[in-house]
Amino acid sequence: MPHVSITRRYRFCAAHRLNTEHLTPEANRAVFGKCNNPNGHGHNYVVLVTVKSGGSQEARDLEPLDRVVNEAIVRRFDHQDLNRDPEFAELTTTGENLVKLIWDLLESRVPAGCLEKVGVVETRDNYFEYAGSAQDAGGLRG
Ligand code: NI
Repeated sequence: MPHVSITRRYRFCAAHRLNTEHLTPEANRAVFGKCNNPNGHGHNYVVLVTVKSGGSQEARDLEPLDRVVNEAIVRRFDHQDLNRDPEFAELTTTGENLVKLIWDLLESRVPAGCLEKVGVVETRDNYFEYAGSAQDAGGLRG
């Protein structure tokens, strides 16, 4: 169904280090390069949350979304070390894993079918996007 979407932008700053216990220190350095620096490094992450528009883009309609994202995402990650987040205990803090985690955290908190996609800008040149499994199930075949 044709429809209008709206995307809201949020920000948080966080540290991380790309490293996996499944690889040797040498292999980690080879795979992740300077992102494997033992001291970690930080990013000014931008999170883009796209939802179906309710027919009006007035700011007050977005207050519930802002509240959910600020509580579930920004407050959780801002000025934190992502590697210490329990969800990353077994996962590397790549942009791919982060955008999927943010999707999962939001999907359970917003009305069903409302969330369309989540984007994470990690660096000037790195953008990650995830639209969950709902789109795979629907789409043209639906
Ligand atoms: Ni990084």
